[in-house]
Amino acid sequence: MRYPITLMEGDGIGPEVTGAAVRVVDCAVDGRIDWERVPAGLAATGRGLPPFPPEAEASLRRTRIGLKGPLTTPVGTGFRSVNVTMRQALDLYACLRPVRSLPGVKKARYQGVDLVLVRENTEGLYSGVEHEVVPGVVEALKIVTRRASLRVARWAFEYARTQGRKKITVVHKATVMPLSDGLFLDCAREVAADYPYLEVETMLLDNLAMELVRDPGRFDVVVLGNLDGDLVSDLCAGLVGGLGVVPGANIGDGHAVFEAVHGSAPDIAGQGRANPIAVTLSAALMLRHIGERRAAARIEHAVDAVLSAGATLTPDLGGRASTTDLCEALLAAVEASP
Ligand code: NAI
Repeated sequence: MRYPITLMEGDGIGPEVTGAAVRVVDCAVDGRIDWERVPAGLAATGRGLPPFPPEAEASLRRTRIGLKGPLTTPVGTGFRSVNVTMRQALDLYACLRPVRSLPGVKKARYQGVDLVLVRENTEGLYSGVEHEVVPGVVEALKIVTRRASLRVARWAFEYARTQGRKKITVVHKATVMPLSDGLFLDCAREVAADYPYLEVETMLLDNLAMELVRDPGRFDVVVLGNLDGDLVSDLCAGLVGGLGVVPGANIGDGHAVFEAVHGSAPDIAGQGRANPIAVTLSAALMLRHIGERRAAARIEHAVDAVLSAGATLTPDLGGRASTTDLCEALLAAVEASP
C-alpha cells in the first residue's frame, strides 16, 4: 500500500526537522509514501504566493493527510496566522497533543507524565475577528458555538474510550466568562453523560496551571478551548523536556495535519541544532492515523532507544549532537527495531 501525503516543510528550523522526520518515516515504511511537497508560509510568500496557497490547500484536500513544519507568523503586522487559516479552512477541529515523559530526558522536570491535551482548534479567541472600535480601543471577539464545543468534546471522549484512557478533565473559566466558557462546559457535560464509565472532572484554567506544575501525573485526557490549549501545550512541553520532544496533530472529520507543538525557532534556525524528535513523533502519530501501526511503533521505539542511550542528544536536551546526527541515530534505531 502506498500513500500520497502532503508535505509543508515550514519556516525557520522547519526544513531541518521535517527533512529528518521524512527520512525516518521513509525508512520505517520502506519508502511507501509519495510526498507531495507544497509551499506554505515564507516559502510561499517568497515566491509571490499567498501564505497558504491554493495549491497547498488543494493538495491537502486531495491527500487528506499532511505533515507540516512550523510556520512563522510576523508579530503585529496584520498577517493572519497560516496555521489558524489552515485549521479553519480544512475544519481541523481537534488539536491532539500527547505529552509523555520520555526515557533519558534528564532535563525533564517530571517523570511519569502521560497526558493528552485535546484543544478546540477552530474558534474561541482565535476566531480572528478583531477590529478597532475607535482609535485607541480594539475589540477581539471570542466566539464559542454549541456545534464546535460538542464535537471537540465528543472527539475527546471517543479518544479516551478507544485509547483506554480513564479520566477527562474539562477546563474552563466559566466563573469569569459564564456565557462563552459556560457553553463549552455545558456541552462537555452533555457529551460526558454518554460515557458514564469515564471519570470526568471540571477545572478552572488557573487551577489547572497550578495542578500541572504541582502534580502532572494526575492528568489523563484534558480538553480545553483554543487559546487555553495553545498556552497549556507549551507549559506541558516544559514538564517533559521542552518543545523539542512534544508531537501534535490537527484532526477533522475528513483531513488531518500533523505537526509539532513548537514554532519555527528563528533563534536557532539554520544552525543544525534543532531537535527533530517532536516532528518525528508527530509523523509517528500520522502513521498510526493512517493505519501503519507497526511503522509508528518502530519510530516510537527508536526515539525511546536513542534517548535512553543518551549519546546523540541535541543541545536542547543537554547534548552536542546536530539535527543530522540525531536523525542518523534514529535511522539506525528504526533499522534495528523489529
Ligand atoms: P518557538 O517554539 O519557535 O521557540 C521557542 C523556544 O523553543 C526557542 O528558544 C526555540 O529555539 C526552542 N525550540 C523550539 N523548537 C525547538 C526544537 N525543535 N529544538 C530545539 N529547540 C527548539 O516559539 P516562538 O519563538 O514563540 O515562535 C517563533 C515563530 O514560530 C513565530 O513566528 C510563531 O508564530 C511561530 N509558531 C508557529 C507554530 C506552528 O507553525 N504550529 C507554533 C508556534 C509558533
